[in-house]
Parts: sequence; structure tokens; C-alpha cells
Amino acid sequence: MSAKPSAIIFGGLNTFSRTLAALLVPLEGEALVSNLRIIDKYSVAPPTTYLGAEFPKVLEKPNVEYRQANLTVPATVASCFEPSEGQGPFDYVFDLTGEVQWDRPEEIQISRTFNVARILGGEAARRHVKAYVRIQHPFYECSEKGSHDEKENVKPDDVLGTWWHESLRALAAIDNLNLVILRTAMVYGPYIDFGTITNFIVVAAVYGYMKQPMKCLWSPGKHPNHIVHSEDVAGATWALAEWMAGLGRKEANAIAGEEILFKNDKSKVKSVEGMVSPDTKCIAPLFNLEDDSNLTLAELGKTVTSFFGTGFEFHSFFINTAAKFKLEDLVEEINEAHVGEWTRMITTSNPPIPNTQYTAYMDLNKLKKSVIAFDATKIKSVVGYKLRHPTLTNHVMQNIIDKLKAEGSWPNLES
Ligand SMILES: *[C@@H]1O[C@H](CO)[C@@H](O)[C@H](O)[C@H]1NC(C)=O
Repeated sequence: MSAKPSAIIFGGLNTFSRTLAALLVPLEGEALVSNLRIIDKYSVAPPTTYLGAEFPKVLEKPNVEYRQANLTVPATVASCFEPSEGQGPFDYVFDLTGEVQWDRPEEIQISRTFNVARILGGEAARRHVKAYVRIQHPFYECSEKGSHDEKENVKPDDVLGTWWHESLRALAAIDNLNLVILRTAMVYGPYIDFGTITNFIVVAAVYGYMKQPMKCLWSPGKHPNHIVHSEDVAGATWALAEWMAGLGRKEANAIAGEEILFKNDKSKVKSVEGMVSPDTKCIAPLFNLEDDSNLTLAELGKTVTSFFGTGFEFHSFFINTAAKFKLEDLVEEINEAHVGEWTRMITTSNPPIPNTQYTAYMDLNKLKKSVIAFDATKIKSVVGYKLRHPTLTNHVMQNIIDKLKAEGSWPNLES
């Protein structure tokens, strides 16, 4: 009999669950889990979302199972927890669910983020799973200065951020759930087509190809834009599950509990089923994750553009006019040049890759000024987590681009 834990990953096929799956059941070497079930709303055969070249091979492993399911339905969620023939109950649950698209209306954010988390957490608690790790994206506006630790009072960003944050309160309020929350900085990595940094890399590649400096809208202030590699998100997720399994919620709260403050509109409590009262003190173990590079926007820009042989400058036109115009009205104009050039790059690539899911289009959310800083001292000192990728090096960038070229989703051009 194997003493390894079994695990379920819910959601996140469009974010980091593929990276996590590859850590739990690597293509080469020994698996960390006895068996792994992955559940999301997408089909994987045929794929209805981008999977990257590696993940389908992980799915071929004998101890890995994929299920397509609608997690907004409680009975479906319950059935997802039922172990397969001859196997015991699942030990670890990795909750990577939640809507990540900014432009969805509030009802969707509530049903796909808040509701799903609440249903999953409730079911996991009933089944006494040993660890329930919830991934929290950096859907916050951090302050420019300050400690950036887990105690900092950060503001959820927009409707999406508000419901992601509310989900943490809902989960934290389930006393007997062995919950631990991992809150990440902006994530990049191989086969990660999601998020601001990937988009930034594509646009930097375009300017590198045009041999022009990439221009930024925001003044070269010192505001933090902290990042972390997807393999560290996976590594930290696993480390937190192991940590929690050895402690249980009560002790974990005593060691690492943080209050998850109420950040919503109080009037919603009556209308949204399952919302926790603003007066309830919600405490859960919470850990930040970012790499060691402590990048400002200017440094991030320099790091990424220099890889593509160009520079990073600040756009005095927009700095001067942003005050007069609404950013919303400038999005199409800003995108015009680099989106057209990216289209040229992918269609003249050898071979052409017109259908790549990697895009140079920067939506309003990616263009707006963001301040992201989540100091990772606590996870290092309390859990002993060691970063695999302390900084974004050229070697790491090359590895990402090489993998995408090999699978045919990154243009292959003579420069
Ligand atoms: C998932 O279930 C909900 C609730 O029954 C339903 O409204 C929604 O349309 C379903 N989604 C899909 C993709 O079937």
C-alpha cells in the first residue's frame, strides 16, 4: 500500500492547475500523490481551452483522471468527491476555481467564484479532507509603500476582486475546514496564457521584433509589480497542503491565522445566499507568495524587454493626456500598433501559427496602473518554502519561449 496522499484539483485549467498537476504527477520521476483527479468545466478531449503541450501527457498517466463537471451544482460537487473503486477518500483538495475574466457581470462573479468556493468548501469539510488549499490571485490594489505582509489591509480590485475576497471569508467561516490560503503575486511561466505578465511578454516581443522601445503609460514611479513563477505557485501549494495535513485548522490558525476583513457592500448580505455577516470575524491561515526580485514596473519592463533586445520607456504623451482622457477611450488606439504587428508575426512565422491563444491585446484591466506586492517572508519562515525561481532570468524566459515555439504557439521568425 502506498502511504502517499490522494488529491483533487478543482478548476484552474485556464490558470495554474496544469502546472500543479505536472508537479504532483510529473512526466519523469516519482509522483507525489497516489492518485489525482482533476475537475473543471472544460472538455480536454477535444480541448475547449488551451492546455499546453505537457498537460495532455500528464492526463495519460494511469493514476490521473480528468472529469468535466459543472461545479455550480452541489450534487455534482458531492459526486466529484466520491473516490473511485478500490480507493480511499481524497486527502487533499486544491481549489483553483473562480472566474478570472474581468468583464463578466456581478451575477456571474457570484455564481462562478463565490458560490463554487462555498459549495466546495462545505463538501470538503463534511468529508474531513486533510488539507484544502485555496489559490487567491492578486485581484487587489496594494499600497505603494508598506510592509506588504499578510496583515496589510489590501483593497479588492473591482467586482471580480470583491467576490474573490468574499469567497475567502466564506471558506474561512467553515470552522472544520482544513483551509489554507495561498495569495500570489502576478504569475508567469511555461504554458501560462493567463494574466498580465504573459500579455506583457507578448507585447515586449512585438516591440523587440519592431526594434522599438516598449512604451509604458505610467510614470516611472517606484510602484511594485511583483511576480512569481507558476512552478513556485505549484510548489507552495503542495508545501501548504503538507503543512496543513500535519496540523489541522485550529493549530494552523493559531500559527498563521489572519483576519479576512469584510470588504463588500453590506446591503448584499441579505440578497446573496451564504454571505457571511460583516460582524463575523473570519480567520484563516494565509500566506503570500512572490519571488525575491521585488520589481518595480520600470524594472519589470526592463527585465522583459531586454530579453527581446529592446528597451522600456515611458510615454509622455499618455502621461500628459491620461489626466484629460479616460483610459477606456484610449484602449483601442494603444493596441492598434502592437496587435497588428503581432498578427504579422504569427502569420509570417515559419510555420504560420495564426490560431495561437497568446495575444498582444491589452485590455483595460491590463493597461491600468496596478500595484502588486505580497511579501513572502511568512511562507518561508513558517512553512520553510524555498523558491525554485527567485528571479526572472533570461534563462527562464528562454525556457518559456522555447516550449511555446516547440508546441507551435509562439512565432518562429528570422530576426
Ligand atoms: C451549470 O449549472 C447551472 C445551474 O444549474 C446552470 O445555470 C448553468 O447553465 C450550467 N452550466 C453549464 C455550462 O451547463
